[in-house]
Amino acid sequence: MINANKKIQKLIKHKIVDIVHESATSISQETYLVGGAVRDHLIDRKRKNRDLDFVTLGCEIKLANEIRNKINKNLKISRFKNFGTAHINFNEINIEIVKARKESYHLSSRNPDVEPGTLLDDLKRRDFTINAIAVSLNNENFGELIDPLGGLNDLKNKIIITPRDPEITISDDPLRILRGVRFCAELNFEINNSLLNAMKKNCDRIKIISKERIVDEINKIIMTDKPSKGFKLLDKIGLIQILIPPLNKLKGIEEKEGITHKDNFYHTLQVVDNISQVTNKIWLRWSALLHDIGKPNSKRFDKKIGWTFHGHEYIGSKMIFEIFKKLKMPLNSSLKYVQKIVLLSSRPIILSNNIVTDSAVRRLIYDAGEEIEDLLMLCEADITTKNKKRRDKYLNNFKIVRQKIKMVEDRDEIRNFQPPISGKFIMSIFNLQPSKEVGILKEKIKDAILDGKIPNEYNSAFELLLKEGTKMGLKPKINEEKV
Ligand code: CTP
Repeated sequence: MINANKKIQKLIKHKIVDIVHESATSISQETYLVGGAVRDHLIDRKRKNRDLDFVTLGCEIKLANEIRNKINKNLKISRFKNFGTAHINFNEINIEIVKARKESYHLSSRNPDVEPGTLLDDLKRRDFTINAIAVSLNNENFGELIDPLGGLNDLKNKIIITPRDPEITISDDPLRILRGVRFCAELNFEINNSLLNAMKKNCDRIKIISKERIVDEINKIIMTDKPSKGFKLLDKIGLIQILIPPLNKLKGIEEKEGITHKDNFYHTLQVVDNISQVTNKIWLRWSALLHDIGKPNSKRFDKKIGWTFHGHEYIGSKMIFEIFKKLKMPLNSSLKYVQKIVLLSSRPIILSNNIVTDSAVRRLIYDAGEEIEDLLMLCEADITTKNKKRRDKYLNNFKIVRQKIKMVEDRDEIRNFQPPISGKFIMSIFNLQPSKEVGILKEKIKDAILDGKIPNEYNSAFELLLKEGTKMGLKPKINEEKV
């Protein structure tokens, strides 16, 4: 570590750290800054630390009161007396103060029994050595790094390792498996071998962790620069099978009559890495992760053409609801978005492989709507062939699809297309109740517009409606009125 003390100078000049220092001094209470903020400063990580974690050897409430009085007397202090913690939120910064403690855990819960302890006890009960480095906020050695567990060295060696026996640290709080994987993925670190073994051994204990916390960590992994690193580790530990079983089923290569298909698990991870280079949209990254999950259930072997996965996009899009529900993820517009992207995920490819008709392009724009650009990004990310010639060819095909889309869009304004004739209008013209006929007629008008048979405007649509309705044996009210 190049001059660790120097790196910490900026952190100890932080306004909040200064206030905590003053407050601790005024009540003569030994206090330290610990956790993620210290870790991130030591490795020059460029991100805003929203959490500042402090350990105090004395009453956490007394220190919290002192801090609050210095910042703003009206601020709320949240107390968790059983755990010896106090929490203040100020200007989007979470100030967390804990009484230095020892912890003992029960098998069924990650909520420990706590008793007061020394600074060393407190550092030892933490998850990883890289998170167990303290900075003194005490006058006699203000700003000094206290690193009894070798965290600095582990930061330098880019290794995740626990302060105690990894079996105990992980079994106490299995969320730490996901945190460890996430730190590896975020910081490009490796997990020490005995820790990895403890994670494997305890992976089933993830069941005592709330789904919200699990998803929070998965989301952080998915938002890293190269998510495959985290997902490969999750797989190694056995967590993909437990948390997202359909992804696990993508693993493996089958061979029949000398013909193989690609390993769709590793292909998927490559697609997620690819899309992560071009977007920070979390739900587009999720779409990439799930875009092939319908493949195992649609896999067939055809003697003439080899392996096929017909309809896997439809099957996959239908599986997403269960995945979201199992993980207690939001069942709202994000779910709908992922379902839609997965359902449409092969459409642009089909376009790129064939001679593109205006009608096919118009239909894609209509079906994808606002998501057309995201869909194309996924399709481009889906190209994982190592063969440069083939890759360039596919990319070029998508370039053509993009040009075609632009041309058709500029001309026909299809993206937010609303049919010029509504179902209500159809019902009133033919004196119909809501029924199958209304849907059929609406579909016919939409198809005629998308196929370019009639322009996207009222008069032509109305004319077609009368013609098609009459063919179906319906009597238009308007004709009777006219007669
Ligand atoms: N901690 C722990 N076990 C956990 C969660 C947290 O030992 N399951 C300890 C670690 O020392 C951690 C500190 O509490 O550094 C603060 O936790 P948190 O704010 O959740 O995470 P950070 O490490 O600060 O990192 P990040 O903000 O990236 O999550």
